[in-house]
Parts: sequence; C-alpha cells; structure tokens
Amino acid sequence: MTGFTLHRLHASIGVEVRGIDLSAPMPKDTRRALAQAWLDHLILLFRDQDLTPKAQRAFCEQFGQLGGRLRKVEERPEGRDAENIMLVTNVRKNGVPIGSLPDGEMFFHHDKCYAAEPDWGTMLYALEVTRAGGHTLFANMYAAWETLSNDLKEKLHGRRVLQIYKYLPTERVDLADGIDKYDHQWQPIVITHPKSGRKALYVNELMSALIDGYDEDESRSIIKRLNSHVKAANIIYEHKWHRGDLMMWDNWCTMHARTDFPRNQTRMLRRYTIRGQKLSA
Ligand SMILES: [Fe+2]
Repeated sequence: MTGFTLHRLHASIGVEVRGIDLSAPMPKDTRRALAQAWLDHLILLFRDQDLTPKAQRAFCEQFGQLGGRLRKVEERPEGRDAENIMLVTNVRKNGVPIGSLPDGEMFFHHDKCYAAEPDWGTMLYALEVTRAGGHTLFANMYAAWETLSNDLKEKLHGRRVLQIYKYLPTERVDLADGIDKYDHQWQPIVITHPKSGRKALYVNELMSALIDGYDEDESRSIIKRLNSHVKAANIIYEHKWHRGDLMMWDNWCTMHARTDFPRNQTRMLRRYTIRGQKLSA
C-alpha cells in the first residue's frame, strides 16, 4: 500500500500524484514508489500542499542530498541566510528583488547544466501565483532524442556541448565577450541518464552555446533546429500554477521554460534542488 494514485498530465510527460500530504512523515515503501513514479514519468505534481521551508527541505532530502548553488553568496538576492533555498519571485523591497529570476519569460534550460555535477532534481513550491501567465513548460528529453531525425542524430554523434549561464532569463552569453567570468561546463550532448540508463538530449536554448566540431554560427543553427524539434514534437506539458502546488522534475531528462506574466502581479515560489553527479554520454 503506497496510499497514492497517479493521474497523467500529458501523454508524453508528467503525472499528478494524489493522496499524499508531503508535510507528514513518509513510510519507506511510499518513498520508494514515488521514486519509481518519478523515474517513469519525469515530473511529479502534488497539489494543495502546505509546506514550511523545513517540510519542503525534509521531503527533498528523502531523495538525496540537497543541491548547493554555484552563484557566489554575495551575488544571491536571497542573502547569506537562505542556505540552499532559492526564492523565485518578483517581489521587491526598496525596488530590489528579494529573490532570483524575478520577471517575465525564461527560455528553455536544464537547471545547473553548466556545473560539473548538474543537479538531479528540482522541487518548486508555489507560495503565490499570478492570475495570468508565468506557466512552466516541461519537455521530455528522452522523447526529444528518440524522435530526432537521423540526419541530426548523426550531426551530434559523440559530441560535447558548452553549457554556460549568465544568470539572466532570456539572455545568452556572448562568446566573444570571453567565457571565463561565467559558470560553464562542457557536457555530452546526449547523456545517459545515471538512474534509468536511457539516452536524453542535453541541449537547451538558454544555456547551450557551442557544439564541439562546429563554429559558433553552425552551433547556433543546430541548437535552433533542436529546439524547434522539441517544440514541434508534442512532448511538452504546460503547467499553470496554483498556490500550494509542488512540482518536482528531473533535470537530466527534462528541460523547462517559463511563459511571460504581468509585472504588477506577485509571483513567489520556493526552490530546493537535489544534488546530482557528473554526466556521461
Ligand atoms: Fe530553472
């Protein structure tokens, strides 16, 4: 008896999990069954949850160690005391955002793909949501790889991709500007998921800048084609947030993006991540 039921969010990706209060202690067999559901469906949604930071953190720790942050502590809007929490919010104090990634659209990306050991999971909990927009799109990157044309598969075979991030939602790093001041990492362009053993395409429009063996223009054009493929392949679930939603996703086999939303509506979500490992082809 695991005590929960699963309900599909989209034919290709995601389930809603019903029947669990995430703030309550979790029996081992429930945790194991959830881990399996997560592996099978890539993203899990829990609605109507009432979670303190401590409870969200405890739930996160059921699946592994908490992920840290690469961004220097003095550059984090959440400040020194927030530890592993990221507040994704447009709330401002004296005109300055109190959290990260405050406004508007955000391009597709994999959290922390620019780190040597990219985070495995992200858990985002909605404290306050906008009436319009600010949805999160999730793409199934196993399916992205499996449905790719042979021509593109061949172009990518055995190659690596430079993942680099300047901590802005719709602005890519200009490579001519030099890359050393930005967090970056060369990663396999197709990874083998460490837990499922399945291949997943590991490219995104925000953070992937260069493919080895191609110059910048060729790389851009391939990355553009890959993103168009993902958007056309019916492998994306769009989540409209409600207060109390907790969404957990796997960063190795999914990528996500955010739709635009009005600046004058408050949006606040609390994020923890689960530590990952080095990824191989
Ligand atoms: Fe993200």
